[in-house]
Amino acid sequence: MMHAALNDPTPVVFITGASAGFGAAIARRFAGLGARLVLAARRYERLEALAAELTGGGAGSSPGGGRAAAVHLVRLDVRDRGAVDRAIAELPPELSEVSVLVNNAGGALGLSPAQTADPDDWEQMVDTNIKGLLHCTRALLPGMVARDRGHIINIGSVAAETPYPGSNVYGACKAFVAQFSLNLRADLLGSRVRVTDIEPGMAETEFSLVRFKGDQERAAAVYQGVKPLSAEDVAEAVVWCATLPEHVNVNRLELMPVMQAFAGFAVKRA
Ligand SMILES: NC(=O)c1ccc[n+]([C@@H]2O[C@H](COP(=O)([O-])OP(=O)(O)OC[C@H]3O[C@@H](n4cnc5c(N)ncnc54)[C@H](OP(=O)(O)O)[C@@H]3O)[C@@H](O)[C@H]2O)c1
Repeated sequence: MMHAALNDPTPVVFITGASAGFGAAIARRFAGLGARLVLAARRYERLEALAAELTGGGAGSSPGGGRAAAVHLVRLDVRDRGAVDRAIAELPPELSEVSVLVNNAGGALGLSPAQTADPDDWEQMVDTNIKGLLHCTRALLPGMVARDRGHIINIGSVAAETPYPGSNVYGACKAFVAQFSLNLRADLLGSRVRVTDIEPGMAETEFSLVRFKGDQERAAAVYQGVKPLSAEDVAEAVVWCATLPEHVNVNRLELMPVMQAFAGFAVKRA
């Protein structure tokens, strides 16, 4: 069993998309280590329920046994740059020095080929997975650089590295995340701010339900007969990267369920 220890005993961890899936699991995992949390998402009531769990202890409390040292909730749509800037400017003073940003908010919409995909879906994926991540990063990075301490953990995807039919804009957004993460490393040389891109494969969360716009049957079929990654598996990877000694930077970490692999090149024969 891993005994993760935080370099800063009560870091402020800012997690976007904390109302479900990976984000909620990452919040639970950091809470278990006694971190202070800023949890952001659009569904505020979900955040409230999570905060009650993370500060109350008892049944369902955080893995690791601890409680979050503090929890601040933000109703936030990461696509709105002004709202992101305001949320960060208005953080309570004791939570304003964010040391870990987990850019997790995002997802896929649709699985249609490019020629029939909905352009509104494309725009929303770009706005969330790319622009939302940029808004949060740009707002929090100056403080991290000034304090010479921090960690930006971006949630990418195996879709960044491996094309599959219907992944078109989603995969391209995550490829942006992969390259932007590396480019940040280049800019940040000389500071102690770390940047990591975590690239999960198939994981069971609300991801497919969102992709298929509430179609439960289609979403469930994605995971049928497979043991996918869990949100907790991904949270474990995030916390591992964040708790390595401060001189160690994981640039990119790709993880998949054992039951998922590569199909090779597709060839259409006449
Ligand atoms: N599950 C997978 O198979 C998988 C694999 C690789 C990568 N990923 C990536 O992992 C990340 C988390 O996905 P998940 O699997 O945990 O999916 P999920 O269960 O659907 O959770 C997505 C989270 O993102 C938030 N979100 C979406 N749009 C937002 C916006 N505009 N502003 C603020 N928050 C927003 C949602 O909160 P609200 O709706 O409350 O705002 C929710 O908390 C995503 O970036 C996804 O692309 C997922």
